[in-house]
Amino acid sequence: MSETAIFPFTDEHKMIRNAARDFAQKEIAPIAAQFDESGEFPYETIKKMGAMGFMGVEVPEAYGGAGLDTLSYVLAIEEICKVDAAHGVVMSVNNSLYCHGILQFGTEEQKKKFLAPVASGEAIGAYSLTEPQSGSDAGTMRSRAVRDGDFYVLNGRKSWVTSGPVADYVVVFMMTDPGKKQKGISAFLVDAKTPGFTRGKKEPKLGIRASATSELIFEDCRVPAENRLGAEGEGFKIAMTVLDVGRIGIGAQALGIAEAAYEAARAYATEREAFGQKIGEFQGTGFKIADMKTRIEAARLLVYNAALAKERSKTTGERFTLQSSMAKLFASETAMYCAHAAVQIHGGMGFSKELPVERYFRDAKITEIYEGTSEIQRLVISRSELGLK
Ligand code: CAA
Repeated sequence: MSETAIFPFTDEHKMIRNAARDFAQKEIAPIAAQFDESGEFPYETIKKMGAMGFMGVEVPEAYGGAGLDTLSYVLAIEEICKVDAAHGVVMSVNNSLYCHGILQFGTEEQKKKFLAPVASGEAIGAYSLTEPQSGSDAGTMRSRAVRDGDFYVLNGRKSWVTSGPVADYVVVFMMTDPGKKQKGISAFLVDAKTPGFTRGKKEPKLGIRASATSELIFEDCRVPAENRLGAEGEGFKIAMTVLDVGRIGIGAQALGIAEAAYEAARAYATEREAFGQKIGEFQGTGFKIADMKTRIEAARLLVYNAALAKERSKTTGERFTLQSSMAKLFASETAMYCAHAAVQIHGGMGFSKELPVERYFRDAKITEIYEGTSEIQRLVISRSELGLK
């Protein structure tokens, strides 16, 4: 990676970036294609990522994490995703969608019980917002949580849950007061061993196939009232605040995919010959290389900038919604652009499973969809700029 001079990398940043790069090369690169093909969940490497501190990068050491900053987190995800975006999304969801919510909104008891095992990588966390009839319009969910003494009784069906088939703990959002719409949503921490909690079938997917995605089903699932995260009715705000963090992770994931596609394309352009010259010498290829490189640099600046904005918010409390949405939007479209160009530059070899380029192409697509589609990011950015919200 070329250094981006305006970002203040410390020795610690360089250390975690190098550690993630070495780990990805040694542990993930040899198995990535095999797990992509089989769609099996890579328990062993995910466990090792936990031991490296990658599953709770920003969580204080007192709660089982590595106690590092947001830039460290982003650098680590980027390096993992240069090798395999499926490992990267498990890491991103665990760190941001699960751990961050508890860190920001949880009680001391919740942090001890629900944060520490997941941040240390002993257990896996998931985040469950989407429903079959409620996707981008997240505030329209139908799942219900009804208070019954010291418990809430959870009923409903959630879909597209990353790590759903393997999660030990889930933060789930349900309606406690449907009449209040978004303000009637609450968040709950659910242990997957709770009776009434089951998992639906694992989704067959185009990309990030080694990560596991499924529905989650709640049937009279009784959860202690002390497992409610935040106040009753505060769930939608928690979901959105957490997604602001998650989108930085997905931006970093997309950046990693884009860089991997670019490096493969650049190498191929300097080796492969056609019509008696290197294909990179044709302007059609050279200009693609120029556009990939430029977009990656811009995406990197946006993603690192969003990471710094989040870091600042730890002291100022300011929201970083805009920086996070812009980073996710631009980096995911850059990943798709670069993966598409890399396949084209490779020609038939780009279509072959013998090289990882076709995997980058399949993996890139989801970054424009999950944790808020590109259309939702444009909505968030334009509403903010036009003062509509
Ligand atoms: N931070 C804090 N609060 C926020 C917020 C944010 N980023 N965004 C909105 N809010 C607050 C608003 O201030 C408002 O509160 P007040 O009424 O008190 O002012 C409240 O939430 C409602 O906000 P909106 O009126 O803007 O809500 P909306 O219904 O118009 O929805 C939306 C806004 C941006 C479209 C939102 O619904 C959204 O982001 N949708 C996409 C959902 C999404 O990303 N889903 C992916 C799920 S996770 C996943 O992909 C699976 C996985 O496992 C990886």
